[in-house]
Formats: sequence, C-alpha cells, structure tokens
Amino acid sequence: MAEFIRVADVAEIPDPGKTLVEVDDDMVALFHVGGVFYAIDDVCTHDGGPLADGELRDHKIACPRHGAKFDIRTGAALSMPAVRPTRAHDVKVDDGGVWVRLRSEAGGGGPPLHGAVHLPVAPVVPVSTCSTPAATREAGETTVEATSAAGGPLCEDHVRELLKEVKDPELFVNIVDLGLIYGVTLTPAADAPGKQHVVIDMTMTSPACPAGPQLIADTKRAVGGSSDVSAVEVRIVMDPPWTPDRMTDAARDQLGIF
Ligand code: FES
Repeated sequence: MAEFIRVADVAEIPDPGKTLVEVDDDMVALFHVGGVFYAIDDVCTHDGGPLADGELRDHKIACPRHGAKFDIRTGAALSMPAVRPTRAHDVKVDDGGVWVRLRSEAGGGGPPLHGAVHLPVAPVVPVSTCSTPAATREAGETTVEATSAAGGPLCEDHVRELLKEVKDPELFVNIVDLGLIYGVTLTPAADAPGKQHVVIDMTMTSPACPAGPQLIADTKRAVGGSSDVSAVEVRIVMDPPWTPDRMTDAARDQLGIF
C-alpha cells in the first residue's frame, strides 16, 4: 500500500479552498471544506479537464471545461457529461501538515441513477391519431420521415422519433434517450394549412454545455425537415435541472453506467 506523503501545511489552504499538489508523480486536487481536507485526482473523467481549476461549492467541484461536477469526498461524478468517478484519496492532518495517500482505484460509485427526481408532466397534445412514423433508409442514409402519409397527422411521437436523429456530439447518445426533451407541443400553423408549428422544450446536461448551439441547430434541422412542419421553436429549459435519472436504459447501456 502507498505511504502517506506530506503535501502542504494546514495553514496554506484557506477554508473553503483548494490547491493542486503532486503525489508520487500524480497531480491531485486538494480541498479544504468545513475544517476537513479531501483529495481527488486532478482529472475529469469526461475528457481530462483539470478539476483543481474548477469552481468549488460546498463539497462539489465543477470541471472548468464542460461543467461536469464531482463530489470531492468520494470522487463520484454528479453530473454529465462525466459518468465515471475520479479517484478519491486518503487524507490525514498531522504535525501541522496535510498528508495524502494515493488509492489505486476510483471510489464514489458514480451518480445515483434512480433517485427521486420529479419532473413536470409534458403538455398533452390533442391529436386524433398517431401512427408509427415510416422509416426510410436509402443508400446507407438514415432518415425518419414523419408525415400524415404514414396514416395520421403529425404527433408528438412522430416528433420524438425525429429527435432521435439528434445526438450529443460528445456522448454519441440521442437527445431523447438522454432525457433532454421535456416537452413537445404541436399547434396547427395559421399561415400554412395542414402543417404544424412545433415547440420543443429542451434542457442541457449542464448550463454551460458547449454543445448547446449545435444541439439546437440539429434539433431544428431534424424536425423542420418534415413536410408536415411549418416552423420549429426550441426553448431551453433549465428548471428542473437535468440529472442522469432522466436517461433511458438504452442510454445508460450505451454509456456503460449500469
Ligand atoms: S473535461 Fe470535464 S466536463 Fe469535459
């Protein structure tokens, strides 16, 4: 087992505060919160972001790159786009100093996947019929065509099928299975008889999600391509905030976080 190594004087690190230390050639983020010291790898498990440079709030550190949050006590990943814990290390205070002993494996166990998250019920869209959209795949391209020609007027289910064509560029999971779609509302277009005005309430995995503009553009393109749609409006909703509980089993399976 690794030995404890003195990495700092207690007086060096304010409370709350953080610093970056080196332990046996590993870079470790050291935190001081509520009179207790904690240490985790200075590595975000999403894409290697430097956690010691992030914003510390209570016992959470936010990765400065894409906003994933980690619990500094356990290393658990608390929010997307990170889904795996980073290593948490043993810390002790002795002789006026802070000592860290590296652990070999990540701890924390990742975010709770089945917590009690209550989301608003999506608006009910009155539609007369809603048949499964016809999927057409030609010459290797995947296109889902949602039109009344499939046997009924455009409906929410059709739109959600279209939205499955939109994938998070970092996670490669579609935005429906990620749980980013909070609501789909269809209204007959006043200026285009037979067509629908579509409003999509969509959230992001984090407020500063760098993929946001691309996701919005891809969403408009995917739904607006239907011949039954006159216009697409995307509304970004951050309340309630997205949590991993929103993901379907298919998304969890893809991300390997069962
Ligand atoms: S590298 Fe940390 S959230 Fe992307």
